[in-house]
Amino acid sequence: MSSRKCFKVRAGQGLNGALRVPGDKSISHRSLMLGSMAQGKTRVRGLLMGEDVLATLGAMRSCGADIQLHDDRVTINGRGAGGLSDPAQALDLGNSGTGMRLLSGMLAGLGISATLTGDDSLRSRPMTRILLPLQAMGADISGHDGRPPLVLRGGRKLHGIDYELPVASAQVKSCVLLAGLNAEGVTRVVEPIRTRDHTENMLRSFGCDIRRDQDTWILQGGSRLQGCELDVPGDFSSSAFFLLAGSVVPDSEIRLDHVGMNELRTGLLRIFEAMGADISILDHRIVGGEPVADLEVRTAGLRGIEIPPEWVPDAIDEFPAVFVAAALAEGETVIRGAEELRVKESDRISVMLNGLRQLGARVEERPDGAVIQGRRRLDGGVVDAEDDHRCAMSLAVAGLCCSEPVVVKSVDNVATSFPGFEAAMARLGGNIEVVDAG
Ligand code: S3P
Repeated sequence: MSSRKCFKVRAGQGLNGALRVPGDKSISHRSLMLGSMAQGKTRVRGLLMGEDVLATLGAMRSCGADIQLHDDRVTINGRGAGGLSDPAQALDLGNSGTGMRLLSGMLAGLGISATLTGDDSLRSRPMTRILLPLQAMGADISGHDGRPPLVLRGGRKLHGIDYELPVASAQVKSCVLLAGLNAEGVTRVVEPIRTRDHTENMLRSFGCDIRRDQDTWILQGGSRLQGCELDVPGDFSSSAFFLLAGSVVPDSEIRLDHVGMNELRTGLLRIFEAMGADISILDHRIVGGEPVADLEVRTAGLRGIEIPPEWVPDAIDEFPAVFVAAALAEGETVIRGAEELRVKESDRISVMLNGLRQLGARVEERPDGAVIQGRRRLDGGVVDAEDDHRCAMSLAVAGLCCSEPVVVKSVDNVATSFPGFEAAMARLGGNIEVVDAG
């Protein structure tokens, strides 16, 4: 994609007010996939209308799914595992690693033939991590040098597998479980480090026979899914930009309503708390099987910390925000064990450190992280988000703490996870304007 939009950011007043961020991206993808394989109606409230999720929706429709959209409400008229068929054209998953990796497992299990592709970023991301277990289950699937496009030749019945995850990845785990759903026999996935468990929770809501024994997920192949009602909470990962902004922009107080609080997603709260942030968790409750709360954040002087590597997986998507917090904290922050950041939508270690360096921060890059010396205010300048949505939003927040204006280039992909980000910031008083790069 040729990026044409930039953010123009100026520091100004504190950020004040309340908002509800759009629906959770991980849960939205899974709702569409599981609902399309289930028997009967699935109704989804609060679906994220971001480009990534719409790409999954398009892919499901290309496989014959009957999905009706009414604003953020969705009705899927499922016809069971046999109700889907080979798509006529290649499935374009856009920017979405989740879409591609989960769908590969699901379609392989269903015996469907398909080609899965995506944008430049997605076509450069590693897929061997899913190709190996799928091939071991009997799937005929290949990539180009371990990258997309992926070619899946269907018509095969897969068999269950005992698989120990070599990387802490919810996408790989979910891929194998979704393939196992329609495979013969039992699939066991050993997870040495826990990662988000939305697939497992949602499979249960659809009536699937899946259970956990210590660090192993055990799923009985051939268990049928029954359509259900789903309520998608606000995306904690989208809330992160406001938790950051509310902490570092002077005189701010922000309330975030109805935020998803799955404990395997909220590691940022632990990191920010250790850095001295002032965040309250209000009205912690369960909605549609998922924990949800309202969050309140007030400005606080953050301090640098050494982040234990074992805190990384539960905050993996929030590291662009953590880099900015570190650059604006007093003292040194050390980030280790975060090499997975290099294979996200961009190389997030290098994109964030380049950006922060341009703004005057003192940063040192490490293969698996960084050492950052913080200061209360950065300078300003032109930075490049390199088409990564989370880097774009994080660098925009950094711009709210600079003494000079900031231009963030290549921000079109913000719409993959957070359509309306700049408008939400503007409602709170943040001065972030979208301009055409021409
Ligand atoms: C996701 C899992 C994570 C995360 C991504 C969404 C998911 O990726 O970074 O944004 O929905 O399962 P990995 O599993 O590759 O760590």
